[in-house]
Amino acid sequence: MTSATTMDTSVRQKFELEAWSSLRLVQVEHALGDWVTADAPQGQNHGAPAQLVDAMRYAVLDGGKRLRPLLVLAAHEAVCPIASDAGVNAALRAACAVELIHAYSLVHDDMPCMDNDVLRRGKPTVHVQFGEACALLAGDALQALAFELMTPQDGSVPEATQARLCALLARAAGSAGMAGGQAIDLASVGQSLTEAQLREMHELKTGALLQASVMMGAQCGEPGAQALAALQRYGAAIGLAFQVVDDILDVTADSSTLGKTAGKDADNNKPTYVSLMGLQASRDYAQRLLLQAQSALDNSGLAQTQALRALADMVVNRAH
Ligand code: IPE
Ligand code: IPE
Ligand code: MG
Ligand code: MG
Ligand code: MG
Repeated sequence: MTSATTMDTSVRQKFELEAWSSLRLVQVEHALGDWVTADAPQGQNHGAPAQLVDAMRYAVLDGGKRLRPLLVLAAHEAVCPIASDAGVNAALRAACAVELIHAYSLVHDDMPCMDNDVLRRGKPTVHVQFGEACALLAGDALQALAFELMTPQDGSVPEATQARLCALLARAAGSAGMAGGQAIDLASVGQSLTEAQLREMHELKTGALLQASVMMGAQCGEPGAQALAALQRYGAAIGLAFQVVDDILDVTADSSTLGKTAGKDADNNKPTYVSLMGLQASRDYAQRLLLQAQSALDNSGLAQTQALRALADMVVNRAH
């Protein structure tokens, strides 16, 4: 009886996440398709070289779980159950912007000077398809486009919101966030890190952008101090959990399921949670982080946290 009830709950939650996600994913795909073009989001023509735009579209469109955009939208909906048009517009722009930063980070992460990977999202990596110089520039251009998207000049997003979103994303992408974490990752090849060092690396290279996704969604509304603090804790927990699970999947999943080369961390001699504490302890740790994320939401004072809860569950219990 108890286990049937538990199963019912988990099946219902999964079904609801799929139903909730499907509409938002369509909106995000559509917006990315429109915004990653040769035409600037503001309407003027960039005159961008066709091959560069092709590489940017190749890196961003038709692939990826879109977890970061979903987190932005879920956090916005949690803070603003009845959202304004301006809030919805800001959240969609923020959702796409964070995905552009993520896509750029993957393009550079796969290059020969970093992880030297040939497969990403089930396709040849951008540098394999377009050459290294073009991949480097596509990453640069995606990063710039992210900030352009969040600063529309048509008055549709209040300037104070634009500034808050840009500050959050810049901080999470830069030397105190993703880029800093990637630098630690590269400097750690062949090293055995302590748990604290490994946690810091993961919090920066992956956690910062996931936490920023949550905070950006929240900042598209008017969150109170209690909600903000709780969402910070939720974002920190799922951000770290995400990379712990990425380390686990690198060992346990195959390349066709992942859409990227499995077993790459051991090949590249990278310190990971699995190499530090083993598979089972890493899985247990990810589950503890999931509980931390759920408990943060319990104390958020927010009424509509179902999507955030289901996304946390997906982060930890995903297959790819
Ligand atoms: C992979 O991220 C890179 C990491 C930060 C671990 P995702 O697993 O979210 O990749 P996509 O977006 O689904 O391809
Ligand atoms: C990358 O971590 C994190 C980024 C900032 C892109 P990984 O190097 O483990 O990501 P995958 O496994 O290649 O996706
Ligand atoms: Mg890497
Ligand atoms: Mg990599
Ligand atoms: Mg990995």
